[in-house]
Amino acid sequence: MDRAALLGLARLCALWAALLALFPYGAQGNWMWLGIASFGVPEKLGCANLPLNSRQKELCKRKPYLLPSIREGARLGIQECRNQFRHERWNCVVATSTTAAAAPFGTSPLFGYELSSGTKETAFIYAVMAAGLVHSVTRSCSAGNMTECSCDTTLQNGGSASEGWHWGGCSDDVQYGMWFSRKFLDFPIRNTTGKENKVLLAMNLHNNEAGRQAVAKLMSVDCRCHGVSGSCAVKTCWKTMSSFEKIGHLLKDKYENSIQISDKIKRKMRRREKDQRKIPIHKDDLLYVNKSPNYCVEDKKLGIPGTQGRECNRTSEGADGCNLLCCGRGYNTHVVRHVERCECKFIWCCYVRCRRCESMTDVHTCK
Ligand SMILES: *[C@@H]1O[C@H](CO)[C@@H](O)[C@H](O)[C@H]1NC(C)=O
Ligand SMILES: *[C@@H]1O[C@H](CO)[C@@H](O)[C@H](O)[C@H]1NC(C)=O
Ligand SMILES: *[C@@H]1O[C@H](CO)[C@@H](O)[C@H](O)[C@H]1NC(C)=O
Repeated sequence: MDRAALLGLARLCALWAALLALFPYGAQGNWMWLGIASFGVPEKLGCANLPLNSRQKELCKRKPYLLPSIREGARLGIQECRNQFRHERWNCVVATSTTAAAAPFGTSPLFGYELSSGTKETAFIYAVMAAGLVHSVTRSCSAGNMTECSCDTTLQNGGSASEGWHWGGCSDDVQYGMWFSRKFLDFPIRNTTGKENKVLLAMNLHNNEAGRQAVAKLMSVDCRCHGVSGSCAVKTCWKTMSSFEKIGHLLKDKYENSIQISDKIKRKMRRREKDQRKIPIHKDDLLYVNKSPNYCVEDKKLGIPGTQGRECNRTSEGADGCNLLCCGRGYNTHVVRHVERCECKFIWCCYVRCRRCESMTDVHTCK
Protein backbone atom coordinates (compact mmCIF):
# COMPACT_ATOMS: atom_id res chain seq x y z
CA MET A 1 0.00 0.00 0.00
CA ASP A 2 1.28 3.46 -0.74
CA ARG A 3 1.51 6.24 1.80
CA ALA A 4 -1.71 7.96 0.78
CA ALA A 5 -3.69 4.75 1.07
CA LEU A 6 -2.25 4.00 4.50
CA LEU A 7 -2.97 7.51 5.65
CA GLY A 8 -6.53 7.16 4.36
CA LEU A 9 -6.98 3.91 6.23
CA ALA A 10 -5.60 5.38 9.44
CA ARG A 11 -8.00 8.28 9.17
CA LEU A 12 -10.94 5.99 8.60
CA CYS A 13 -10.03 3.93 11.64
CA ALA A 14 -9.83 7.08 13.73
CA LEU A 15 -13.17 8.18 12.35
CA TRP A 16 -14.93 4.96 13.25
CA ALA A 17 -13.34 4.90 16.65
CA ALA A 18 -14.62 8.41 17.25
CA LEU A 19 -18.09 7.52 16.02
CA LEU A 20 -18.36 4.38 18.07
CA ALA A 21 -17.30 6.25 21.16
CA LEU A 22 -20.04 8.78 20.60
CA PHE A 23 -22.80 6.34 19.84
CA PRO A 24 -22.31 2.99 21.46
CA TYR A 25 -25.93 1.91 21.08
CA GLY A 26 -27.37 -0.21 18.31
CA ALA A 27 -30.19 2.12 17.43
CA GLN A 28 -27.96 5.12 17.03
CA GLY A 29 -25.63 2.92 15.02
CA ASN A 30 -28.38 3.26 12.46
CA TRP A 31 -26.71 6.20 10.81
CA MET A 32 -23.14 4.93 10.79
CA TRP A 33 -23.78 4.13 7.14
CA LEU A 34 -23.23 7.81 6.35
CA GLY A 35 -19.55 7.05 6.59
CA ILE A 36 -19.87 4.97 3.46
CA ALA A 37 -19.76 8.21 1.49
CA SER A 38 -16.05 8.40 2.24
CA PHE A 39 -15.24 4.94 0.90
CA GLY A 40 -13.90 4.78 -2.61
CA VAL A 41 -15.27 1.41 -3.67
CA PRO A 42 -17.27 -0.06 -0.77
CA GLU A 43 -17.94 -3.28 -2.71
CA LYS A 44 -14.30 -4.21 -2.42
CA LEU A 45 -14.43 -4.19 1.37
CA GLY A 46 -17.42 -6.49 1.60
CA CYS A 47 -20.45 -5.94 3.80
CA ALA A 48 -18.79 -7.14 7.01
CA ASN A 49 -16.15 -4.41 6.98
CA LEU A 50 -18.43 -1.48 6.30
CA PRO A 51 -19.76 0.86 8.98
CA LEU A 52 -23.19 -0.74 9.15
CA ASN A 53 -25.25 -2.03 12.03
CA SER A 54 -26.04 -5.73 12.15
CA ARG A 55 -29.39 -5.40 10.43
CA GLN A 56 -27.91 -3.35 7.63
CA LYS A 57 -25.06 -5.82 7.23
CA GLU A 58 -27.63 -8.58 6.72
CA LEU A 59 -29.40 -6.53 4.09
CA CYS A 60 -26.09 -5.68 2.46
CA LYS A 61 -25.15 -9.37 2.25
CA ARG A 62 -28.44 -10.18 0.58
CA LYS A 63 -28.21 -7.23 -1.82
CA PRO A 64 -24.56 -6.31 -2.30
CA TYR A 65 -25.36 -4.80 -5.71
CA LEU A 66 -27.05 -1.92 -3.86
CA LEU A 67 -23.82 -0.74 -2.26
CA PRO A 68 -22.98 1.84 -4.94
CA SER A 69 -26.47 3.32 -4.53
CA ILE A 70 -26.13 3.38 -0.75
CA ARG A 71 -22.86 5.23 -1.03
CA GLU A 72 -24.30 7.61 -3.61
CA GLY A 73 -27.34 8.23 -1.39
CA ALA A 74 -25.11 9.15 1.55
CA ARG A 75 -23.05 11.44 -0.65
CA LEU A 76 -26.15 13.16 -2.06
CA GLY A 77 -27.62 13.72 1.38
CA ILE A 78 -24.45 15.11 2.93
CA GLN A 79 -23.75 17.35 -0.04
CA GLU A 80 -27.27 18.75 -0.11
CA CYS A 81 -27.28 19.34 3.64
CA ARG A 82 -24.15 21.45 3.28
CA ASN A 83 -25.60 23.24 0.30
CA GLN A 84 -28.84 24.16 2.04
CA PHE A 85 -27.10 25.33 5.22
CA ARG A 86 -23.96 26.92 3.79
CA HIS A 87 -24.96 30.40 4.94
CA GLU A 88 -26.14 29.50 8.43
CA ARG A 89 -24.55 29.24 11.81
CA TRP A 90 -25.04 25.50 11.74
CA ASN A 91 -23.62 24.70 8.33
CA CYS A 92 -24.04 20.95 8.41
CA VAL A 93 -20.41 20.38 9.12
CA VAL A 94 -19.61 16.84 8.30
CA ALA A 95 -16.14 15.88 9.26
CA THR A 96 -14.12 14.67 6.39
CA SER A 97 -12.01 11.81 7.58
CA THR A 98 -9.19 14.35 7.93
CA THR A 99 -10.86 16.60 10.45
CA ALA A 100 -12.28 13.63 12.32
CA ALA A 101 -8.83 12.15 12.66
CA ALA A 102 -7.48 15.49 13.83
CA ALA A 103 -10.20 15.90 16.43
CA PRO A 104 -9.56 14.62 19.94
CA PHE A 105 -10.88 11.13 20.49
CA GLY A 106 -14.64 10.99 20.71
CA THR A 107 -15.24 14.55 19.59
CA SER A 108 -15.65 13.98 15.89
CA PRO A 109 -17.86 16.69 14.48
CA LEU A 110 -19.38 14.27 11.98
CA PHE A 111 -22.90 15.26 12.95
CA GLY A 112 -21.80 14.38 16.45
CA TYR A 113 -24.20 16.31 18.57
CA GLU A 114 -26.85 16.85 15.95
CA LEU A 115 -27.53 13.19 15.36
CA SER A 116 -28.56 12.39 18.86
CA SER A 117 -29.82 15.70 20.16
CA GLY A 118 -33.37 15.59 18.84
CA THR A 119 -33.18 19.10 17.42
CA LYS A 120 -34.42 20.56 14.14
CA GLU A 121 -30.97 19.89 12.73
CA THR A 122 -31.29 16.22 13.64
CA ALA A 123 -34.63 16.21 11.86
CA PHE A 124 -33.17 17.66 8.69
CA ILE A 125 -30.24 15.26 8.60
CA TYR A 126 -32.43 12.18 8.94
CA ALA A 127 -34.87 13.43 6.31
CA VAL A 128 -32.27 14.41 3.75
CA MET A 129 -30.35 11.17 4.16
CA ALA A 130 -33.46 9.01 3.79
CA ALA A 131 -34.41 11.03 0.72
CA GLY A 132 -30.91 10.64 -0.72
CA LEU A 133 -31.22 6.90 -0.49
CA VAL A 134 -34.58 6.89 -2.29
CA HIS A 135 -33.16 9.12 -4.99
CA SER A 136 -30.01 7.14 -5.68
CA VAL A 137 -31.70 3.72 -5.59
CA THR A 138 -34.46 4.94 -7.91
CA ARG A 139 -31.87 6.34 -10.34
CA SER A 140 -30.18 3.01 -10.37
CA CYS A 141 -33.51 1.24 -11.08
CA SER A 142 -34.24 3.57 -13.99
CA ALA A 143 -30.74 3.08 -15.37
CA GLY A 144 -31.53 -0.62 -15.68
CA ASN A 145 -28.85 -1.59 -13.21
CA MET A 146 -31.13 -3.67 -11.04
CA THR A 147 -33.10 -6.84 -11.52
CA GLU A 148 -35.57 -6.09 -8.73
CA CYS A 149 -36.77 -2.79 -10.06
CA SER A 150 -36.89 -0.86 -13.29
CA CYS A 151 -38.85 1.95 -14.85
CA ASP A 152 -42.48 2.33 -13.79
CA THR A 153 -44.17 -0.31 -15.91
CA THR A 154 -47.69 0.40 -14.66
CA LEU A 155 -47.87 3.35 -17.02
CA GLN A 156 -47.15 1.47 -20.23
CA ASN A 157 -49.69 2.00 -23.00
CA GLY A 158 -51.48 4.62 -20.92
CA GLY A 159 -51.97 8.26 -21.74
CA SER A 160 -54.58 10.26 -23.57
CA ALA A 161 -54.86 9.93 -27.33
CA SER A 162 -57.39 12.76 -27.51
CA GLU A 163 -54.98 15.12 -25.78
CA GLY A 164 -52.22 13.83 -28.03
CA TRP A 165 -49.85 12.29 -25.54
CA HIS A 166 -48.91 8.90 -24.22
CA TRP A 167 -46.62 7.53 -21.56
CA GLY A 168 -43.30 6.46 -22.95
CA GLY A 169 -39.65 6.38 -22.21
CA CYS A 170 -38.66 5.51 -18.67
CA SER A 171 -40.73 6.80 -15.78
CA ASP A 172 -38.91 6.82 -12.45
CA ASP A 173 -40.55 4.38 -10.06
CA VAL A 174 -39.84 5.50 -6.51
CA GLN A 175 -41.65 2.56 -4.87
CA TYR A 176 -38.63 0.28 -4.71
CA GLY A 177 -36.38 3.11 -3.51
CA MET A 178 -38.89 4.01 -0.80
CA TRP A 179 -39.13 0.38 0.26
CA PHE A 180 -35.37 0.01 0.41
CA SER A 181 -34.87 3.27 2.29
CA ARG A 182 -37.37 2.10 4.91
CA LYS A 183 -35.82 -1.34 5.18
CA PHE A 184 -32.32 0.04 5.47
CA LEU A 185 -32.90 2.96 7.80
CA ASP A 186 -35.98 2.47 9.91
CA PHE A 187 -34.95 0.73 13.06
CA PRO A 188 -38.07 -0.79 14.63
CA ILE A 189 -38.85 0.87 17.94
CA ARG A 190 -40.11 -2.34 19.51
CA ASN A 191 -36.55 -3.66 19.34
CA THR A 192 -35.03 -1.01 21.55
CA THR A 193 -34.27 -1.03 25.19
CA GLY A 194 -34.05 2.04 27.38
CA LYS A 195 -37.11 4.19 27.77
CA GLU A 196 -35.55 7.60 27.51
CA ASN A 197 -34.83 7.27 23.82
CA LYS A 198 -38.26 6.22 22.62
CA VAL A 199 -39.42 9.70 21.69
CA LEU A 200 -36.19 10.44 19.86
CA LEU A 201 -36.46 7.18 17.97
CA ALA A 202 -40.05 7.87 17.01
CA MET A 203 -38.99 11.34 15.92
CA ASN A 204 -36.19 9.96 13.75
CA LEU A 205 -38.48 7.42 12.12
CA HIS A 206 -41.02 10.11 11.35
CA ASN A 207 -38.38 12.37 9.83
CA ASN A 208 -36.94 9.54 7.73
CA GLU A 209 -40.39 9.12 6.24
CA ALA A 210 -40.84 12.87 5.77
CA GLY A 211 -37.67 12.83 3.67
CA ARG A 212 -38.99 10.02 1.50
CA GLN A 213 -42.32 11.77 1.10
CA ALA A 214 -40.51 14.84 -0.22
CA VAL A 215 -39.06 12.77 -3.07
CA ALA A 216 -42.47 11.34 -3.91
CA LYS A 217 -44.20 14.69 -3.67
CA LEU A 218 -41.82 16.40 -6.09
CA MET A 219 -42.25 13.85 -8.87
CA SER A 220 -43.05 15.69 -12.07
CA VAL A 221 -43.88 14.91 -15.67
CA ASP A 222 -41.57 15.63 -18.59
CA CYS A 223 -42.69 15.43 -22.19
CA ARG A 224 -41.06 15.42 -25.57
CA CYS A 225 -42.71 16.44 -28.81
CA HIS A 226 -42.76 14.40 -31.97
CA GLY A 227 -44.19 15.28 -35.34
CA VAL A 228 -43.20 17.11 -38.45
CA SER A 229 -40.66 19.83 -37.66
CA GLY A 230 -41.70 20.54 -34.11
CA SER A 231 -45.45 20.41 -34.71
CA CYS A 232 -45.87 18.46 -31.49
CA ALA A 233 -48.64 16.33 -32.95
CA VAL A 234 -47.70 13.57 -30.57
CA LYS A 235 -46.12 13.87 -27.17
CA THR A 236 -44.32 11.22 -25.17
CA CYS A 237 -44.35 11.82 -21.43
CA TRP A 238 -42.68 10.21 -18.46
CA LYS A 239 -42.55 10.73 -14.71
CA THR A 240 -39.31 11.93 -13.28
CA MET A 241 -37.89 12.72 -9.87
CA SER A 242 -36.88 16.32 -9.19
CA SER A 243 -33.27 17.27 -8.91
CA PHE A 244 -31.99 16.51 -5.45
CA GLU A 245 -31.39 20.21 -4.93
CA LYS A 246 -35.13 20.88 -5.24
CA ILE A 247 -35.83 18.12 -2.76
CA GLY A 248 -33.27 19.65 -0.40
CA HIS A 249 -34.95 23.00 -0.80
CA LEU A 250 -38.36 21.57 0.13
CA LEU A 251 -36.84 19.88 3.16
CA LYS A 252 -35.16 23.12 4.20
CA ASP A 253 -38.57 24.72 4.07
CA LYS A 254 -39.96 21.92 6.24
CA TYR A 255 -37.04 22.46 8.61
CA GLU A 256 -37.89 26.12 8.97
CA ASN A 257 -41.50 25.19 9.75
CA SER A 258 -40.71 22.14 11.82
CA ILE A 259 -42.91 21.19 14.74
CA GLN A 260 -41.80 20.70 18.31
CA ILE A 261 -43.33 17.60 19.85
CA SER A 262 -43.85 16.67 23.46
CA ASP A 263 -41.16 14.56 25.07
CA LYS A 264 -43.80 12.69 27.05
CA ILE A 265 -44.53 9.32 25.54
CA LYS A 266 -48.15 8.82 24.65
CA ARG A 267 -49.69 6.43 22.17
CA LYS A 268 -48.74 8.80 19.40
CA MET A 269 -46.68 11.92 19.05
CA ARG A 270 -48.26 15.19 20.05
CA ARG A 271 -47.36 18.83 19.61
CA ARG A 272 -45.63 20.36 22.56
CA GLU A 273 -47.80 23.47 22.51
CA LYS A 274 -50.99 22.49 24.32
CA ASP A 275 -53.19 24.97 22.49
CA GLN A 276 -52.05 23.62 19.11
CA ARG A 277 -52.60 19.94 19.78
CA LYS A 278 -55.68 19.86 17.57
CA ILE A 279 -53.66 20.80 14.50
CA PRO A 280 -52.75 17.52 12.87
CA ILE A 281 -49.16 16.45 12.28
CA HIS A 282 -48.66 15.37 8.68
CA LYS A 283 -46.30 12.66 7.59
CA ASP A 284 -44.26 15.12 5.57
CA ASP A 285 -43.71 17.51 8.50
CA LEU A 286 -40.35 17.58 10.23
CA LEU A 287 -40.52 17.04 13.99
CA TYR A 288 -38.13 17.82 16.78
CA VAL A 289 -38.07 17.41 20.55
CA ASN A 290 -35.37 19.72 21.85
CA LYS A 291 -34.55 23.35 21.18
CA SER A 292 -31.32 23.90 19.27
CA PRO A 293 -28.28 25.57 20.79
CA ASN A 294 -27.29 28.77 19.01
CA TYR A 295 -24.21 27.16 17.42
CA CYS A 296 -22.27 30.38 18.04
CA VAL A 297 -19.34 29.19 20.09
CA GLU A 298 -17.27 26.10 19.85
CA ASP A 299 -18.23 23.22 22.10
CA LYS A 300 -15.72 20.43 21.75
CA LYS A 301 -17.74 18.08 23.90
CA LEU A 302 -20.79 18.37 21.70
CA GLY A 303 -18.80 18.60 18.48
CA ILE A 304 -20.11 22.09 17.67
CA PRO A 305 -17.44 24.04 15.80
CA GLY A 306 -18.87 27.54 16.41
CA THR A 307 -18.76 30.33 13.83
CA GLN A 308 -15.32 31.76 14.55
CA GLY A 309 -13.39 32.04 11.31
CA ARG A 310 -16.47 31.62 9.12
CA GLU A 311 -16.72 33.95 6.15
CA CYS A 312 -19.58 36.41 6.43
CA ASN A 313 -21.23 39.02 4.22
CA ARG A 314 -20.93 42.56 5.53
CA THR A 315 -23.91 43.92 3.62
CA SER A 316 -26.34 41.05 4.08
CA GLU A 317 -29.19 41.29 6.56
CA GLY A 318 -29.69 37.54 6.40
CA ALA A 319 -28.22 34.60 8.25
CA ASP A 320 -24.95 34.95 6.31
CA GLY A 321 -24.56 38.61 7.37
CA CYS A 322 -21.65 39.34 9.69
CA ASN A 323 -24.01 40.51 12.38
CA LEU A 324 -25.99 37.32 12.71
CA LEU A 325 -23.35 34.82 11.68
CA CYS A 326 -20.74 36.18 14.06
CA CYS A 327 -23.27 36.37 16.90
CA GLY A 328 -22.35 40.00 17.57
CA ARG A 329 -18.68 39.27 18.20
CA GLY A 330 -17.58 41.33 15.21
CA TYR A 331 -15.40 40.35 12.29
CA ASN A 332 -11.94 40.66 10.79
CA THR A 333 -11.36 41.98 7.31
CA HIS A 334 -8.62 40.71 5.03
CA VAL A 335 -7.81 41.87 1.56
CA VAL A 336 -7.57 39.07 -0.94
CA ARG A 337 -5.81 39.61 -4.26
CA HIS A 338 -7.21 37.96 -7.36
CA VAL A 339 -5.28 37.65 -10.58
CA GLU A 340 -7.13 36.75 -13.74
CA ARG A 341 -6.87 36.96 -17.48
CA CYS A 342 -8.80 39.88 -18.86
CA GLU A 343 -9.31 42.13 -21.87
CA CYS A 344 -8.74 39.15 -24.11
CA LYS A 345 -8.46 39.89 -27.81
CA PHE A 346 -8.58 37.58 -30.73
CA ILE A 347 -5.55 38.17 -32.93
CA TRP A 348 -5.89 37.25 -36.62
CA CYS A 349 -4.92 34.47 -37.04
CA CYS A 350 -5.13 32.52 -34.72
CA TYR A 351 -4.53 33.24 -31.12
CA VAL A 352 -5.94 35.09 -28.15
CA ARG A 353 -3.97 37.68 -26.26
CA CYS A 354 -4.98 38.69 -22.74
CA ARG A 355 -3.77 41.01 -20.05
CA ARG A 356 -3.31 40.03 -16.45
CA CYS A 357 -5.66 41.95 -14.23
CA GLU A 358 -5.41 42.22 -10.52
CA SER A 359 -8.30 42.99 -8.25
CA MET A 360 -8.64 43.27 -4.51
CA THR A 361 -11.64 42.07 -2.56
CA ASP A 362 -12.38 42.35 1.10
CA VAL A 363 -13.12 39.10 2.86
CA HIS A 364 -14.73 39.19 6.27
CA THR A 365 -14.44 36.43 8.82
CA CYS A 366 -16.08 36.13 12.22
CA LYS A 367 -14.03 36.90 15.33
C1 LIG B 1 -25.29 1.69 -13.59
O1 LIG B 1 -24.22 0.77 -13.73
C2 LIG B 1 -23.11 1.29 -14.47
C3 LIG B 1 -22.12 0.16 -14.69
O2 LIG B 1 -21.93 -0.57 -13.51
C4 LIG B 1 -22.53 2.47 -13.73
O3 LIG B 1 -21.44 3.02 -14.43
C5 LIG B 1 -23.60 3.54 -13.55
O4 LIG B 1 -23.09 4.61 -12.78
C6 LIG B 1 -24.82 2.95 -12.87
N1 LIG B 1 -25.87 3.96 -12.86
C7 LIG B 1 -26.60 4.23 -11.78
C8 LIG B 1 -27.56 5.35 -11.90
O5 LIG B 1 -26.51 3.61 -10.75
C1 LIG C 1 -36.31 -7.59 17.00
O1 LIG C 1 -36.51 -8.40 18.14
C2 LIG C 1 -37.05 -9.67 17.81
C3 LIG C 1 -37.36 -10.41 19.10
O2 LIG C 1 -36.53 -10.00 20.13
C4 LIG C 1 -36.06 -10.42 16.91
O3 LIG C 1 -36.57 -11.69 16.58
C5 LIG C 1 -35.82 -9.61 15.66
O4 LIG C 1 -34.84 -10.23 14.86
C6 LIG C 1 -35.37 -8.22 16.00
N1 LIG C 1 -35.35 -7.43 14.77
C7 LIG C 1 -34.37 -6.61 14.45
C8 LIG C 1 -34.54 -5.90 13.19
O5 LIG C 1 -33.38 -6.43 15.17
C1 LIG D 1 -23.77 39.91 0.20
O1 LIG D 1 -25.11 40.23 0.45
C2 LIG D 1 -25.67 41.13 -0.49
C3 LIG D 1 -27.08 41.48 0.00
O2 LIG D 1 -27.80 40.34 0.35
C4 LIG D 1 -25.67 40.46 -1.87
O3 LIG D 1 -26.21 41.34 -2.83
C5 LIG D 1 -24.24 40.10 -2.24
O4 LIG D 1 -24.21 39.39 -3.47
C6 LIG D 1 -23.61 39.25 -1.16
N1 LIG D 1 -22.19 39.08 -1.45
C7 LIG D 1 -21.61 37.89 -1.52
C8 LIG D 1 -20.15 37.90 -1.80
O5 LIG D 1 -22.22 36.84 -1.37
